[in-house]
Amino acid sequence: MSRIAYVNGRYVPLCQAVVNIEDRGYQFSDGVYEVCEVREGRLIDERRHLGRLAYSLKELRIAEPMAMSALGVVMREVVARNRVNWGIVYLQVTRGVARRDHAFPPAGTRPSLVITARSLELASAEHIAADGVAVITVPDNRWERVDIKSVSLLPNVLAKQVAREAGAREAWFVDKQGRVTEGSSSNAWIVTRDGKVVTHQVGHDILRGITRTVLVDVITAQGLTLEERAFTVEEAYAAREAFLTSASQIVLPVVRIDGRPIGNGAPGLIATALRRDFHRFAEMT
Ligand code: PDD
Repeated sequence: MSRIAYVNGRYVPLCQAVVNIEDRGYQFSDGVYEVCEVREGRLIDERRHLGRLAYSLKELRIAEPMAMSALGVVMREVVARNRVNWGIVYLQVTRGVARRDHAFPPAGTRPSLVITARSLELASAEHIAADGVAVITVPDNRWERVDIKSVSLLPNVLAKQVAREAGAREAWFVDKQGRVTEGSSSNAWIVTRDGKVVTHQVGHDILRGITRTVLVDVITAQGLTLEERAFTVEEAYAAREAFLTSASQIVLPVVRIDGRPIGNGAPGLIATALRRDFHRFAEMT
């Protein structure tokens, strides 16, 4: 079955899905995106993802390509046409097509909208979670507004590649004070020796992960103590557990950081319980 993409008002086979070379996403990475988990053919936390999309668009002064409720309809249609049971739906909005000029294009330039969906292997994701993953740390060399889910991901791409070449799944960015901000495509968490769950506070220097937001509710419901604050790399090395979160990876136990085993070197009990309970707290539509 060939995959179907939605491109500016049309559903087209992926091999024919194209955008103009003067699209500002292509020219300047002048656009934003969202990735939403699909489970049992339904969208996970659509409302929150669309809320964050609206925020990213507003911060960059890009017009909404259509009403948010209509976007949800198109996302669902793309999921259905691609027969995704478990996987992701990807949505990208750019400032549109215009002759190349750094400044914004003329008022009325229509934003471009692309939506794709693809299936992922649930069994292999569960294997990865059962084994736990390795992360490495890298300097955070991104701009100051990473709370905007922009498609400008060059530092993230480079960090992820360094991780892959080191045999790790993720790179954790570390700020100039030696504190972990987040991963190249996920939020970063530790569990301290005395059982407190710690993750960086929200602000301009991390992406406010939707998985992170929902997990705060899971943590509270499980009676755990949450501290939203920066933690150092040293604290992470000494942690009892570590894990990362993102829409497609949910809660993924981290068992090694920079080659050092975390806790007993196996997925922790808290991370495992949070992963197990996550979807009871997420919205499914
Ligand atoms: N990444 N931090 C960064 C830098 C991210 O790119 C992501 C998501 C997250 C987690 O956000 P959420 O829980 O809403 O997925 C945190 C997506 C999945 C991606 O780029 O593919």
